[in-house]
Amino acid sequence: MSPKPYSRQEGSLQIKLLIDLCATSESETSAGSDVIWGLTQTPKSLPPKYFYDDLGSALFEKICDLPEYYPTRTEAEILHQYAGEIARITGACELAELGSGSSTKTRLLLDAYDALGYPLHYLPIDVSAGILESSAQQLLAEYPSIQVQGLVSTYELALKQLTPTQLPTRMICFLGSTLGNLNSQECDLFFSQITGALAVGEYFLLGVDLQKPKELLEAAYNDSQGVTAQFNLNVLEHLNQRFQGNFNPLLFEHWAFYNQQKHQIEMHLRCLHSHTVRLEALDLTVKLESGETIMTEISRKFDPSIIQQELQAQGLKPLQFWTDPQQWFGLILCQV
Ligand code: AVI
Repeated sequence: MSPKPYSRQEGSLQIKLLIDLCATSESETSAGSDVIWGLTQTPKSLPPKYFYDDLGSALFEKICDLPEYYPTRTEAEILHQYAGEIARITGACELAELGSGSSTKTRLLLDAYDALGYPLHYLPIDVSAGILESSAQQLLAEYPSIQVQGLVSTYELALKQLTPTQLPTRMICFLGSTLGNLNSQECDLFFSQITGALAVGEYFLLGVDLQKPKELLEAAYNDSQGVTAQFNLNVLEHLNQRFQGNFNPLLFEHWAFYNQQKHQIEMHLRCLHSHTVRLEALDLTVKLESGETIMTEISRKFDPSIIQQELQAQGLKPLQFWTDPQQWFGLILCQV
């Protein structure tokens, strides 16, 4: 079933809905086909999108503030230092942000464009209508001249639907190293979708987490307060609620480690006792052995020169690479 067209306009705020928020049982079932696939493979896996129900999104916000989770504050430091330079390179520019969430780091960019006297046109794109609307309202209160055109959408749909900007150019921002949650083929496809959505001369700003000692990485995904463990285990509650399941989170433990060959953190749920789980809405019965794991996420850590070559190969020419003094995180500005 296709989503209901929806658009709401209030002064300088417009929010368009490209996905169906009130998903019917039919679309819910087709959405669960990835769960059926993942839980019937050996080894078992689940797509990381199932982290993000309301509780999962709130837990992720909490992760971003944890002392061990360096990516969010390191990227913010880099943006703080270089946002002015980015604005000077692009000139007046519409900012489109994929996975905008609470738009916290975006303010550093908006401030830089504002300081140079450029008009502020912001196009946040997020699957969560609630967070998109509340952060848009907050931005309108903070920046009286801003125009916000939000899209409640998946990245793929939004990138297909971008209409030409009214400003001289556009920059698509993809921050937080969410790129790391895509495997290498998904990453190439994503870059080609970015190139396809931008006109020649337009910009792409990408945040990437960089390779670093295993100890630092493993601490960031095994925090001492157990928030990441809660975030990981919440996937099971989300599946229970969404697909009438009977997962018992107490029968699993969080397991995250750095795979040095693949340069990626791997997050799993490890089953503590053999048992069977039923997901009624998917008509799926899953047998789990003691010690068996379900992979819930990869988080790739990048080499700056390799990722820049990959961007270049997809028609996204790297113009500048900025990093922090410890070289933990990178920000790459590319031009089509
Ligand atoms: C959203 N993404 C970039 C986070 C990451 O670091 O890969 C998700 C996350 N998983 C555990 N902690 C944070």
